Amino acid sequence: MTFPSAKDENIVWHQHAIDKTFRAELKKQKPAVLWFTGLSGAGKSTVAGALENELAKQGYHTYLLDGDNVRHGLCSDLGFSEQDRRENIRRIGELAKLMADAGLIVLSAFISPHRAERQLVRDMLPEGEFIEVFVNADLSVCEQRDPKGLYKKARAGEIRNFTGIDSAYEAPLEPEIDLPAGEKSIEELVAQCLDALKSRSVIS
Ligand code: ADX
Repeated sequence: MTFPSAKDENIVWHQHAIDKTFRAELKKQKPAVLWFTGLSGAGKSTVAGALENELAKQGYHTYLLDGDNVRHGLCSDLGFSEQDRRENIRRIGELAKLMADAGLIVLSAFISPHRAERQLVRDMLPEGEFIEVFVNADLSVCEQRDPKGLYKKARAGEIRNFTGIDSAYEAPLEPEIDLPAGEKSIEELVAQCLDALKSRSVIS
């Protein structure tokens, strides 16, 4: 049995009348994907969650995609091999793209350790819509925090391929937003994000 794929010539993209521009205008906002990347324990979910609260308070329509949560559902079949992480990010990228198409400001919080996958997601979106947010905290800080006790397990060899320990993390070279997450408070980091979003006219 063969399954149809996107490359199948019998599958044609259908252009519906209600489009991204229409939906975004209804919501009176500019869709964007705020892509938080960084080591486990750097504070991706915490900062993204606090920023989402602030955006929602200001009346923006948002959706937060979180690594640990998405891995319970959409990506529950994936582990932490290089190949699975790539597939994880590809799926999240496609999902974030759909949500931006729905007119939302999407916040995604995944380690997303490889530059190539983050670039893949950037390339899925129109120019300016992908905003890379580097949650920049040193491994030593993350390991000291160790909120889930996972670094300890990784050091003990109980978890394999743990990012920063025996699996690589490639820091962004030119992130749109670079957050000093090892030094500043959550409030200060959120304020930095809000300023950057204003200067990029994502919010007013
Ligand atoms: S990613 O590398 O594919 O982007 P993702 O952000 O979805 O990772 O998931 C990371 C979360 O999974 C971590 O915050 C941690 O709680 C958990 N985790 C479990 N095993 C690992 C591992 N080997 N490496 C990194 N994170 C892991």
